[in-house]
Amino acid sequence: MESESRMGSGASEASSFGSVGGKIGLVGGGNQSAALLDLILVWPDPKVVVVVDADPAAPGLRKAQALGIATASHHLDVFRYPVDLILEATGDPQVLNDLLRTRPAAVEVIGAGSLRFFWELLQRLKVTQEQIIQAERLSAIGHLARGVAHEFNNILAIILGNAELMARRRQSRSNLEKLKTIEEAGWRAAETVRRLHSFATTTGGREFVAVDLNEIILDAVAVTRPRWKDEAEARGFTIKVITNLGPLPRALGNPTELREMVVSLLFNALDAMPEGGQITITTRAVGEMLEMSVSDTGVGMSEEIARHIFDPFFTTKGPSRTGLGLSVLHGVLARHRGSVDVSTQERYGTTFIVRLRSAEGSPNAERPATDAEVPGGLRILVIEDEAQILHLLVRTLQNAGHTVRSAAGGQQGLSIFGREKFDIVVTDLSIPEVSGFEVARTAKRLDPGVPVILVTGWGDQLDPQHLDESGVG
Ligand SMILES: Nc1ncnc2c1ncn2[C@@H]1O[C@H](COP(=O)(O)OP(=O)(O)OP(=O)(O)O)[C@@H](O)[C@H]1O
Ligand SMILES: [Mg+2]
Repeated sequence: MESESRMGSGASEASSFGSVGGKIGLVGGGNQSAALLDLILVWPDPKVVVVVDADPAAPGLRKAQALGIATASHHLDVFRYPVDLILEATGDPQVLNDLLRTRPAAVEVIGAGSLRFFWELLQRLKVTQEQIIQAERLSAIGHLARGVAHEFNNILAIILGNAELMARRRQSRSNLEKLKTIEEAGWRAAETVRRLHSFATTTGGREFVAVDLNEIILDAVAVTRPRWKDEAEARGFTIKVITNLGPLPRALGNPTELREMVVSLLFNALDAMPEGGQITITTRAVGEMLEMSVSDTGVGMSEEIARHIFDPFFTTKGPSRTGLGLSVLHGVLARHRGSVDVSTQERYGTTFIVRLRSAEGSPNAERPATDAEVPGGLRILVIEDEAQILHLLVRTLQNAGHTVRSAAGGQQGLSIFGREKFDIVVTDLSIPEVSGFEVARTAKRLDPGVPVILVTGWGDQLDPQHLDESGVG
C-alpha cells in the first residue's frame, strides 16, 4: 500500500530534476539509505515514496515504516510505485543491472557509485538552507529589536531621569529605597536595551579602524580576571587562561565591540566550567583574515542547544540572564563582515572560532581609534556628573548618529570646549566645580554661536533673568 511521506505538505509536485519528477524509490535499506531518508525528508519535494529491502530489520526499511512510507521486499517491486527516480543503495551490480533493464524510459536510476556525490550535494544543500533560514530569522528579529530598543531607550530615559531627580529632593528613607530599586531595575533594563540595540544595528563600517586583536584579547583577559581568577579561587577551584597569540595584521573593526565580543566568549566559557578548567585563546593569520579561537574544557552543548545559541534571548542559565551575549556577537560579526563557527561536545568542551577581516588596504586603516565619528552628525559636548545619566545621554546621542565628547564636571567640560569645536553643548545645571550656568556663559563667550542646552528637572524654579544672562536658549 502506498502512503504519503511525513513531509508531504501539499507543495507542488512539479519536477525537481528537470525532466525527472520528484518521486524517489530507495532500493536498499542499509544505514546509508536511512541517512539519505533523513536528508531528503528536509524538503517537501522530492519525496521518497517507497523503500525496498529483503531484510525486514534493515534500518532504512524500519525508518520508512516509522515515517509512514511504503516498503517492499524485492527490488523490482519498486516499479509498482509511481517513481521518477531510483536510488540504488545496495551496491550490488546485479540489482543495478536488473533495475536498468526493467525501468520504463522515464525513470532514472542512480547507482551506488554516484550516490556518494548525490549525498554530498544534498548535505550541502541542507546546510545552505539552514543558513538562509537562520539569516532570515535573525534579520526579522533584528528589525523588530531595533524598534523595541529605540522605543525603550526613550521610555527608560524618562523613568531613570525622573527617579534620579526625585531622589535628589528630600525624601523619606523608605521612598529613597524604592527610588533606588526603580533606578537599579531601570539600569538593568537599559543594559539589556543597549545589548539588543547592539545586536540589531546593521549599519557597519563607519566606526571601523585598524585594531590590534591580540591587544584586545589581552585587555579582555585582564578585565575578566576578577571572575576567572579571584572569584574561582575563592570558591575553591582553578581556571587557567592560556593565550597563544600569533603574529597578526591589524583587524578592521570597532575596538569596543570587539572587546565586548571577547569578554562575552570568556564569560560563556567560565559559565560552562563551574568546577574549573582551562580556556585557551589562539590567534593566527589565515590569508586575508584573522582567526581567533576560544576553547574551553567545560560542559559543552547538545546538538539541539547548539542550534539555538545565536537566537536572541536564548539562554540555558535561568531568568537572571538575558541570553543576548551570542546574538550580539553574531550582529557584531555580521557588521564586521566576519564569521563565527562553533564546535562542541557534551562534557568535553566548546570552541568558538571567530574570523575577522584584516585592515590592510582599507582606507580606514591608518586612522587612530577615537570617538565615534559620524559624517553629517553633530559634534556634541555633554557635561553631567552622574555617571549613569552621562552614560545614558552619551549612548542615546551616539545612537542617533552624533559624535559625543563627555565630561564629568564643569571644569573638565570647559577645558575640552577650549580645545575642540562643538555644534551643541548639553550640560546639567548642578555639576561640581563650575555650575551649568557658568559653563553656558563661558561657552557663549568663547563661541557666541553655540547653542547650550541645560538639562534639569527644575525648570519651574529657574529664574528667567538668570537664564537670559547666561545666554541659554
Ligand atoms: N562556551 C560555552 N559552553 C557551553 N554552552 C555555551 C557556551 N557558550 C554559550 N553556551 C550556550 O549558549 C547559550 C546562549 O549564550 P549567550 O551568551 O547568548 O547567553 P547567556 O550566556 O545564556 O546569557 P548572557 O550572555 O546574556 O548573560 C547559553 O545559555 C549556553 O547554553
Ligand atoms: Mg553569555
